[in-house]
Amino acid sequence: MKIIREIEALQAAVRSYKKQQQTIGFVPTMGFLHEGHMALVKAAHMENDVVVMSIFVNPTQFGPNEDFESYPRDEARDTVRAEQNGVDILFMPSVETMYPESLTATIHAQKRVSVLDGATREGHFDGVLTVLGKLFHLVQPDNAYFGQKDAQQVAVVQGFVADYFFPLKICVVPTVREQDGLAKSSRNVYLTEQERKEAPVIHAALRKAREEVKGQDKASVLANIRAAIDQKNSYEKIVYLDMYQYPSFEPVEDWEKPIIIAICVQYSKARLIDNEIIGGA
Ligand code: PAF
Repeated sequence: MKIIREIEALQAAVRSYKKQQQTIGFVPTMGFLHEGHMALVKAAHMENDVVVMSIFVNPTQFGPNEDFESYPRDEARDTVRAEQNGVDILFMPSVETMYPESLTATIHAQKRVSVLDGATREGHFDGVLTVLGKLFHLVQPDNAYFGQKDAQQVAVVQGFVADYFFPLKICVVPTVREQDGLAKSSRNVYLTEQERKEAPVIHAALRKAREEVKGQDKASVLANIRAAIDQKNSYEKIVYLDMYQYPSFEPVEDWEKPIIIAICVQYSKARLIDNEIIGGA
């Protein structure tokens, strides 16, 4: 595995792969790698000749009061994991490398972002698209891999890639879970012991809702989820819990088309998200 930190070196490596007509699978991450990331790498391996992973905690997607500084980082462990899982190039740029100057033109996400993380994390998706625009240009992947846990991110990135004709396919990999159903997340390390014990209720409540959703109105589906989660009391608040058509994030109108139930729960130090997509996707 080659570790690359500079733009020119990455571009040279990509040029050489292209010359050899090798297909590139790209796994963009913010590091603190877990099995969820490894599932992305595995999928990338199956469908491409080489796998490029980036690890970059992107400051532009964090709000001023969010956890950019304290976001978990462990470069040494990540490097071992990436190598063990057969990543060919690990790109780990510095903030100065990715953002050497203030931007001449900015990217503003405006569709699929008026709700959920788009509404509660101001500027978050602008930052995600900004860094992905840069990374897609650098890596020139044939396929890029994202986890379904970040379903709104997937929908926004898919729209962006289609709008600007990026010549790549967005591949979505199912959420990887702990044995008790908790979605794997880098932020899980910030759960206290009690919170960790109770957090699987999020997934359990969504699963139950999924089974019962047919024939129910939206308000009672959401009320049942809230009631199940309320039985555990270690969390601080439910930041959002709602249902939308997927991937448009428009209000639910057609129950025959894919619908997402999405939730965000704030614990003392960890903000966890999860979702279920019903009927497709
Ligand atoms: O999902 C993430 O880890 C980040 O939002 C991404 C896609 C790597 C962009 O910084």
